[in-house]
Amino acid sequence: MKIVVTDQEGAVHNLDALEGWRVMEIIRDHGLPIKAECGGACSCATCHVYVDEEWRDKLYPPREEETEMLDGAFDVEDNSRLSCQLIFQPDLDGLAVTLAPGTEPDA
Ligand code: FES
Repeated sequence: MKIVVTDQEGAVHNLDALEGWRVMEIIRDHGLPIKAECGGACSCATCHVYVDEEWRDKLYPPREEETEMLDGAFDVEDNSRLSCQLIFQPDLDGLAVTLAPGTEPDA
């Protein structure tokens, strides 16, 4: 199973994905530049991604904490999600996301 991640420079990466892992963890463990400062506690928004249109409706909706955190984030779009709140499942095989500005580790 894979996820497809476009980094902040526009490079596309196909990453092996494991069931039960957070999308943020998959991105980070493959060495892509994602700050994810709070380590997945839904309190930093530095794991912000844009979800490709075709996948938007296939994800479960954000919980209130995620929505509140995104409310205070920068460059938020209708397809914004926090990748630490997306748990990878087999039905998300092929999920495509783009790392949002501000997720670079040195941002
Ligand atoms: S890693 Fe901090 S909100 Fe996702």
